[in-house]
Amino acid sequence: METMWAGRFKKQISEMTNDFNASIKVDGRMFEEDIRGSMAHAAMLGAQGIIPKEEADKLIVGLEGILSDLKSGALKIDERAEDIHMFVEAELTKRLGETGKRLHTARSRNDQVALDNRLYAMKEIAAVQAEIENLIAVLAKLAEENTETVMAGYTHLQRAQPVTFAHHLLAYAAMFMRDHDRLADVKKRTNVLPLGSCALAGTTHPIDRFAVAKQLGFADVCFNSMDGVSDRDFMLEFAAALAVCMMHLSRLSEEVILWCSWEFKFLELDDAYATGSSIMPQKKNPDISELVRGKTGRVYGNLMALLTVMKGLPLAYNKDMQEDKENLFDSGDTVKTCLAVTAEMLRTATVLKENMFNAGRKGFINATDVADYLVKKGEAFRSAYKITGELVALAIEKNVSLDELPLSDYRRFSPLFGEDIYKEIDLKNCVKKRTSYGGPAAPSVKKQIKIVKDFLASAKQ
Ligand code: ARG
Repeated sequence: METMWAGRFKKQISEMTNDFNASIKVDGRMFEEDIRGSMAHAAMLGAQGIIPKEEADKLIVGLEGILSDLKSGALKIDERAEDIHMFVEAELTKRLGETGKRLHTARSRNDQVALDNRLYAMKEIAAVQAEIENLIAVLAKLAEENTETVMAGYTHLQRAQPVTFAHHLLAYAAMFMRDHDRLADVKKRTNVLPLGSCALAGTTHPIDRFAVAKQLGFADVCFNSMDGVSDRDFMLEFAAALAVCMMHLSRLSEEVILWCSWEFKFLELDDAYATGSSIMPQKKNPDISELVRGKTGRVYGNLMALLTVMKGLPLAYNKDMQEDKENLFDSGDTVKTCLAVTAEMLRTATVLKENMFNAGRKGFINATDVADYLVKKGEAFRSAYKITGELVALAIEKNVSLDELPLSDYRRFSPLFGEDIYKEIDLKNCVKKRTSYGGPAAPSVKKQIKIVKDFLASAKQ
């Protein structure tokens, strides 16, 4: 196959070099972005009189035809082409002859690939955001059904204080809302047109970059042509936002894995979202969550790879940058799938409320409430804390929970204790009393659910 630069070269490219140099197997998936970019570019060339208007129109029609043929499958991407840009231009020239050769006026693959990357990233950001919204909606619904489901909240994976399952889930909703927001922020810096930077130094042709930006829906135009072709910050930021989102998914996965163990048994996964063992007949494994936790590694790795590719590159374009896409594509694909399977797995799972409550009953999670009781009766917190510690030690010794200790035991440690202590340390009541803003009491949790739902409603607009 003759390369595009055959004029300057005396020999054909070796097959090995061609294979090594080519990126079409990776960037082929950006064909739509590439063609849309070329259509806007052709329209601008025609409008500015850089090429005859009729030829610009022919280019646009030709590009439209290639796009619809690729979409329908009538045209297959030729993997012998170096990259998607070369393929589309060659196909256009095959279809239009000389006219096709006018498309690349006042343009370079350097600004073309930067454009495709940005268009692709913007599409992908929206797709990830949609999956995040779906997961948040599942969490909000589960939360609505569990505002009274008392469970232990944990610190150090030790039972700590009473919360509800709703409250616990809404913490994850908060994380995913931040992920959504972070992506919106990445989009701001992605939404800038690099086309017209050309190879690196702009062009002598009277191009109109603002018209191209308008046609493609970009909010801004990059103001320095060298930065325009060499900036990949938006990809790094996107990869970083995806890594943070994966970290959240991984934390949730870890909890699901714990909750599915017999030691916890807070959650029963639907059979359709769990797997069995090849040897142990009793097993029902939370493979989805384990895989999500595991795939976090590759998403982190993709971010590291991208940072390392960019490190130390002199201005402007360097071929190293061809390595930018595979990582980002993989991170986007992985996060989208992980969000979707996690949402479905949670949506179909059964919450074992009794088990949650019973686990909360052991572990002295109402100990802080005993201390707070004394504080409300006039004791200083530090002294109340010590008295309660002694009561817990006694309960451990007697192998009972705090509500099973008789009042006489309480009164041995402080005369402030009365019969009302039992109501005070009833787990349901302990949750009910935690009315501070952001706390687990049902009215507070309902407020949180409203915040989450309002967020979803505004995200959908
Ligand atoms: N396939 C290349 C990439 O992904 C396109 C840009 C090539 N530019 C060049 N000067 N060779 O980065």
